[in-house]
Amino acid sequence: MKTEIRSGGDWHEAAKRYIEEGEVVAFHTETVYGLGANAFDDGAVLKIFSLKGRPADNPLIVHVHKSYDISRLIDGEPSYAAALRKAYLPGPLTMVYPSIGKVSKYVSCGLNTLAIRVPSSPCAQEFLREVNLPIAAPSANLSKHVSPVTAQHVYDDFAGKIPLIIDGGACQGGIESTVLDCTGDVPKILREGLVTREMIAKVAGSCELYRAKAGEKPKSPGMAYQHYSPRCRTAYFSSPEKARECYFEEQKQGGSPYLLCENALLPAFSGLKVYDLGKTGEEMARNLYALLRRAEREATLLVAVEPKEHGGVMAGVLNRLHRAFGVIV
Ligand code: TXA
Ligand code: MG
Repeated sequence: MKTEIRSGGDWHEAAKRYIEEGEVVAFHTETVYGLGANAFDDGAVLKIFSLKGRPADNPLIVHVHKSYDISRLIDGEPSYAAALRKAYLPGPLTMVYPSIGKVSKYVSCGLNTLAIRVPSSPCAQEFLREVNLPIAAPSANLSKHVSPVTAQHVYDDFAGKIPLIIDGGACQGGIESTVLDCTGDVPKILREGLVTREMIAKVAGSCELYRAKAGEKPKSPGMAYQHYSPRCRTAYFSSPEKARECYFEEQKQGGSPYLLCENALLPAFSGLKVYDLGKTGEEMARNLYALLRRAEREATLLVAVEPKEHGGVMAGVLNRLHRAFGVIV
C-alpha cells in the first residue's frame, strides 16, 4: 500500500472515503498525531490494534467534533465534568465516562467506560467534521515507541501500512492529553498532561491523582506498559556530574553519546553534544518526543538529566521522561 502525506485542503475527500471503507487514517492533533478509524466499525478498530501491535486490553480514546452531542455515547455526566468541558474543550483533555456501549466493543476492551476527546487542532476538527463520525484513535506510533509529533514520525512507523497521513505540521502540545476519570464524585487524573491538576481543581473544586496500588490493575490500562522509549540505549541522572561521567565513559568506549537536559543546564555541558529540552514546562513538552526520535538516529547512548522544575505541566513531562528512561518513581 502506498502511504500518502497530504496537507492543506487536499485530503478531505480521500479521508472520508478511507474511513467509510474501514481504513485507518493518521491525523494531526494539538498533542500528538493519532491513528484513526470509525469507532462504530469492529474491523476498522481491530486494524488499529494489529497495526500498532497494541495489547488487546489497552482501550482507545474516541475523538469527536466540537459540535458532537456526547450524550449519544455516554450514560450521563457529573456537573463538574460539564463545567470542565466548558472550560477546557476543545483541548488536550480526555474525559472517561460510563459508556452506553454504542461504539465497537473493541474500543474500550471490555471496560464499561468510554474515553472521549475533543481535539482543538483545526486540522483534527476539519477531519472530524468531514467524516462526521466518532473516531477511535491512539497515538500514531508502534506500541512502546515514542509518540509522533510530525507527519514524518508517523511515516517512519507506518509507511506502506496505512493509506493517508493528514499533515497539520508539528504538534504544538507535544505530549498526550490528560486522561481524567469522570465516573466518580471527584475527578481523578489517570494520565497527566497539558491540562494540569491545578487547572482541573480550579474548575471542579478538587482533583485527585490516581495511582494504582501494588498488584492492582491500573484504571487506565495504558499506564501499566513501558512506553515512549527511544531505540537507543538510555541513562538517567539527577546529578549533572554523574551524567557527565556517563557521557565521557560512553565516548571512551567509542560510542556517540548525547545529553538531554533543560536549558538552564546547558552551561554545565559546554563543548559536549547536548539536546536542549527548553526553558518552561510547555517548551519541554513540545520538544521531548522530537528529541527522543532524533536521538535514535544520532546517539548510541542518550543521557538525560532530571529537570529541576516540577510544577504544572512538568508533572506530565516528568511522567513521560521517567517512562521513556525506565525510571521507577
Ligand atoms: O493526546 C492524546 O490523547 C492522543 C491523541 C492522538 O488524541 N491519544 C493517545 O492515545 O495518547 P493512546 O491510545 O496512546 O493513549 C490512551 C490512554 C491509554 O493510557 C489508555 O489506557 C487510556 O487512555 N484509556 C482509553 N480509554 C480508557 C478508558 N475507558 N478508561 C481508562 N483509560 C482509558
Ligand atoms: Mg500512546
